[in-house]
Amino acid sequence: MHSLKCISVVFRDEQFLLAVDILRQGGIVAFPTETVYGLGARYDSEQAIAKIFAVKGRPSDNPLIVHISDYCQLSEITLAVPSLAEQLMQVFWPGPLTIVLPKSSAVPYAATGGLETVAVRMPAHAVALSLISALGIPLVAPSANLSGKPSPTTAQHVRDDFGETIDAIVDGGETEVGLESTVVSIGVCGVTILRPGAVTREMIETAIGVPVLTQQAEPHMPPPSPGMKYMHYAPRAEVLLFKGQAVTDMPQQVLLLRNTGGVVAVIGYEDTLAQVAETAMKMTFGKRGRADLAAHNLYAYFRQADQAGVTHICVEEIAAIGLGAAVMNRLSKAATRVIGG
Ligand code: TXA
Ligand code: MG
Repeated sequence: MHSLKCISVVFRDEQFLLAVDILRQGGIVAFPTETVYGLGARYDSEQAIAKIFAVKGRPSDNPLIVHISDYCQLSEITLAVPSLAEQLMQVFWPGPLTIVLPKSSAVPYAATGGLETVAVRMPAHAVALSLISALGIPLVAPSANLSGKPSPTTAQHVRDDFGETIDAIVDGGETEVGLESTVVSIGVCGVTILRPGAVTREMIETAIGVPVLTQQAEPHMPPPSPGMKYMHYAPRAEVLLFKGQAVTDMPQQVLLLRNTGGVVAVIGYEDTLAQVAETAMKMTFGKRGRADLAAHNLYAYFRQADQAGVTHICVEEIAAIGLGAAVMNRLSKAATRVIGG
């Protein structure tokens, strides 16, 4: 495993080196990954970690992901890497897969929300990998949004949420995936998905050859992933999620909302949007059947709707298979009302 080096581009640009320097001194810097922008700090600075929790308004028991650029860093931050985890790393790293592993004593409890485990990922983004390797220290990085808001997919989204309260933003343009990484834990029974993402259940099952479990939060049990218990990904506007047959009622519902003074945005596949009368905003998932455009654009659409003063966002469900499962996971969490299904 440790022979598998991750070769990353190292930027030598002055601005880039400035960002590295800020991180080295314990500052917090937003940077792009292939999923969403992260708000990074060196994993070994409790002070910097505290600042991340403070600026985000994040509950202190919701742990952070530690981002690495080289397999060698695994032995610094984890106690052990089970062979199933190693298999997943071989196939999916660098990439949008986060693996929960036993933490080493080097990782402060402030980063793990008091847990004995640490979530680790190697992002597939040249800027992220270069930042970490130039610094030579893994970076803790939650998504770079105010707690409860949709994750940022552009540097402007980060600016909109934080203004001057963070030390720097490394602008790497729009992120590719648009949704946060898949989070998995490894147990005696195999791999459990704690948060679906672009590395799908189907992809993991193909890689390991056994079925994957999907953990749901149980009402009376401590959540396996603390992040699951918090309201997430929500725009200010009310989100109405239309499922199954109810999608055909969407044009009527949109009219009703408009007639009662609502400022309505509609998000859905092209053929659905074509059925809806004039609204404040129409935002497309593209041709029916695609999930990648929905994933890529969902959070940006939520933010655009909020900026336009939209009061109600009507969204069409998509098939919860492959990447669609991650889209539906975020939509279900954002929805204030589910209609049909
Ligand atoms: O794509 C991503 O994962 C982005 C980019 C920046 O890497 N990061 C991200 O971080 O989405 P954040 O903090 O917004 O979400 C991390 C999730 C939370 O749901 C948290 O509860 C879970 O990972 N998590 C972190 N450490 C964990 C642990 N030790 N055990 C279980 N879940 C953990
Ligand atoms: Mg987040």
